[in-house]
Amino acid sequence: MPNLRLPHQWFIACDATELRRRPIARTIQDTPLVLFRDGAGRAAALLDRCPHRNVPLSAGHMVDGLLQCSYHGWRFDGAGVCRVVPALTSEPDRKARHATTFPTVEQDGFVWVYSTPDVTPLRQPYRFPAVDRRYATIRRSVTMPGLMRHALENALDVPHTAFLHGGLFRTAARRHAIEVRVTRTASGADAEYVGEPRPSGLVGRVLSPGGGVVEHVDRFIMPCVAQVEYCLGDASHLLNTTAMTPVSESETRLWAVIQLRLPVPSRLVAPLVTPIAMRILRQDAAILGLQAKAIRRFGGEDFTSTEIDVLGPHIWRLLAAAADGGEAPAPFEHRVTMRV
Ligand code: FES
Ligand SMILES: [Fe+2]
Repeated sequence: MPNLRLPHQWFIACDATELRRRPIARTIQDTPLVLFRDGAGRAAALLDRCPHRNVPLSAGHMVDGLLQCSYHGWRFDGAGVCRVVPALTSEPDRKARHATTFPTVEQDGFVWVYSTPDVTPLRQPYRFPAVDRRYATIRRSVTMPGLMRHALENALDVPHTAFLHGGLFRTAARRHAIEVRVTRTASGADAEYVGEPRPSGLVGRVLSPGGGVVEHVDRFIMPCVAQVEYCLGDASHLLNTTAMTPVSESETRLWAVIQLRLPVPSRLVAPLVTPIAMRILRQDAAILGLQAKAIRRFGGEDFTSTEIDVLGPHIWRLLAAAADGGEAPAPFEHRVTMRV
């Protein structure tokens, strides 16, 4: 399966707090970008290449709300229009002097960039769930080695949790056969675990000290969101939503927003949950690094799957169709039994 470039999609370029007075360089799908705030404080993204002599614009700085190139001082606004060519006596603005511009939206505390330049976007960026004040919210960003589609599968893959994260989430010893409903639509794929007992590891004990049955749904939302939802009665609710940015073939950036309601005051939740979440993410990063290295060494993927690899193959089919610009695969629903 070749690497996929997805046109007409929104990805997170940076946390909104990272973007202040200086331009910053970011890469999405191997495309170098410069991000900055214009005179009105609006976030903007241009191709990180000056139209004049191709110096990276991210090496420049802001002057009067315009991004000034560090070589000859051309200045660009947030729409990529060349506003100043120092020493030029005629009008600076010409179409050929425009910098390539990527639509940009600041939303949910993130700066989102559209993957196709110089167009009106066909859709809006993903919106993170809105929760009330009983929830604690933990935001973390980490880098995973390898391709986005492998990181997406990993985030929604249940069978690895008893092994790679043994004891933290599930344990390999105490396992129950349960039914999983798998649904694919044009906009994503879900796996719903029916009648799953509370996970026996540390995370399960934190979520529900008294045990019980959980409602558990894993969701892939096109093109870059992995969401894991656990409900334990009325008291506990976990929503772990991760938006992923395909930086390059060897790097995927994860933007995780964990929203959690527990039967304890919400201020106690983050100190309890953050170290566990970070440990799980580090274990995932290590295994994805080994996977990426092996794929590279053997010159490509050669995967085999079983029916309990419930979401990976659907994620890959949806992404492949979006990369082609072709039609989404037909809706799909089936049930499998899995030991969890
Ligand atoms: S290279 Fe940017 S102004 Fe000349
Ligand atoms: Fe994992």
